[in-house]
Amino acid sequence: MHTQTLQKPLTVKEAIESRHSIRQYVQEPMPKEDLEEILRLTSLAPSAWNLQTWRIHAVTDPGLKEQLQEAAYGQKQVTLAPVVIVLASDMEDVLQNLEETLHPGLSPERKQSEAANLSAIFGGMSVEERGQWGLTQANIALGFMMLAARGLGYGSVPMLGFDQQKVRELLGLPEHAKFAAMLPIGRADQEGYPHHRHSLDRIVTYH
Ligand SMILES: Cc1cc2nc3c(=O)[nH]c(=O)nc-3n(C[C@H](O)[C@H](O)[C@H](O)COP(=O)(O)O)c2cc1C
Repeated sequence: MHTQTLQKPLTVKEAIESRHSIRQYVQEPMPKEDLEEILRLTSLAPSAWNLQTWRIHAVTDPGLKEQLQEAAYGQKQVTLAPVVIVLASDMEDVLQNLEETLHPGLSPERKQSEAANLSAIFGGMSVEERGQWGLTQANIALGFMMLAARGLGYGSVPMLGFDQQKVRELLGLPEHAKFAAMLPIGRADQEGYPHHRHSLDRIVTYH
């Protein structure tokens, strides 16, 4: 199935309903502006205190994709996709650079007190605990990224089936970084599986 470049982005509903995990891709590069638009839309995801814990590694280098595929136990979608995103979370980077995340509209005094407050809150946690907290925020960005890609006519598949230590080494990520997912993205060359989901009765309780 060859999906043509979309003239018009899908609606949110269309993007959600038509997103399926895609593991085969049309063999063509992704235009840089499409990749940048997916990343820009991803960066609009919300996060607690607006800390934006996500750090995005966009891989197009064929040799590096080969190595990532090996780290992903040979899962072929990694080299079949024109772009592979590794979406990580780096809370230590956030905490070391708090001034850049605080809203520029805040007064210097307010900024100082916000920074002190955040340092106290996260300073009271271990690196592991706050790393896990940061990951919960990066997962929101992952959802945005999959839907942004789909909205622009691309398929993707979220992956956690990989050797995290190997990927850490390949991308030069620090020990404390956490992985939301590896996400191959490209034009779908298959339909994916039909959705199989719980009924709302099973997962929703109205109060
Ligand atoms: C966090 C996460 C990790 C996943 N890891 C893998 C993976 O390593 N390899 C793979 O082929 N699919 C992986 N999947 C895809 C799921 O199998 C898929 O999303 C699920 O079966 C629902 O199918 P759908 O995405 O087509 O709706 C992962 C999905 C998520 C959300």
